[in-house]
Amino acid sequence: MSKTYQIAVLPGDGTGPEVTREAVKVLEAAAARYGFKLALTEYDFGGDRYLKTGEVLPDSAADELRKHDAILLGAIGHPDVKPGILEKGILLRLRFELDQYINLRPVKLFPGVETPLKDKGPEQIDYVVVRENSGGLYTGTGGISMKGTPHEVAVQSMVYSRHQVERCLRFAFDYTRKRNKRNTLALCGKTNVLTYVYDLWERAFHEIGQADYPEIRRDYYHVDATCMWMVKNPEWFDVIVTGNMFGDIITDLGAITQGGMGIAAGGNLNPEGVSMFEPIGGSAPKYTGQNVINPLAAVCAGQMLLDTLGETEGAAAIERAVVHVTGSKLKSMAAGRMGYSTQEVGDLLAQFVAGE
Ligand code: IPM
Ligand code: MN
Repeated sequence: MSKTYQIAVLPGDGTGPEVTREAVKVLEAAAARYGFKLALTEYDFGGDRYLKTGEVLPDSAADELRKHDAILLGAIGHPDVKPGILEKGILLRLRFELDQYINLRPVKLFPGVETPLKDKGPEQIDYVVVRENSGGLYTGTGGISMKGTPHEVAVQSMVYSRHQVERCLRFAFDYTRKRNKRNTLALCGKTNVLTYVYDLWERAFHEIGQADYPEIRRDYYHVDATCMWMVKNPEWFDVIVTGNMFGDIITDLGAITQGGMGIAAGGNLNPEGVSMFEPIGGSAPKYTGQNVINPLAAVCAGQMLLDTLGETEGAAAIERAVVHVTGSKLKSMAAGRMGYSTQEVGDLLAQFVAGE
């Protein structure tokens, strides 16, 4: 009997539903070819639902989602909803409640995709950022006192426990070992200024590395220097591990070097629970319903989803399809300039996965 995976699909806002539809199409093609099944349950969390009901996310959402094997998310962000409400109320809340403590973001330049980095190609741009996803500035306490007065004070603290740091580092070392490419893990920190938090990270990094991963080479870069080298010498990197805020920032830089938001995908992982995969770009509301948005990022999120479920053959087939489509079909990664519609790109990928 073939295996059936329970997948929660959250198409979300703006162009989210359009790109999610194509990602599902490609996932279904992989399922048919490699002998597994997907049982999809759609949830309408997002801006429209919030505007209609006044509720950002039902309290039962995390428990409901926990019943699934994985979650595929389209995009969150609605032009009529104040920035922050949906991001915090849906995306961040789910990350925290489901304890998806890793944000895995591959920075991989596919053939045929234009990069703003001069003289760099797919050989040079191929690394993975492991962003801590449960702590740091995102969950540190804070507040504002004397708001609106000249004496107003705002505090938002970067807080990390050894436990949070350690589980993230262990994931990153394991991932580097499994990837087995250059066997190099780089810690991205700021030990010259954030002398408490990144001191903890650095000590844990070397202790764990020395004790349990002696064959993995350990590099260290300050976050500002990391940005510089990601542009100048991306080939230095194999796997980068960092805290939540730095990870957020450097992965947007990474994304633009791999062709931008049309292609960059990420996974919010709970290695012991349920993980959520998403294109890392926003909901691009101005393109909604036009069938011009690039679905590749959502498709790559689907590829990561399969890989995490252990359907590695299906995942590899999707990756080959992406290479085929970027390398020999699409004119550009940008919305409206692909030379194909959103749906046509999905069809090309699904056909390739089905038949090669
Ligand atoms: C990301 C996004 C989110 C983040 C926002 C939308 C809350 O930028 O996934 O990188 O800051 O983590
Ligand atoms: Mn971000």
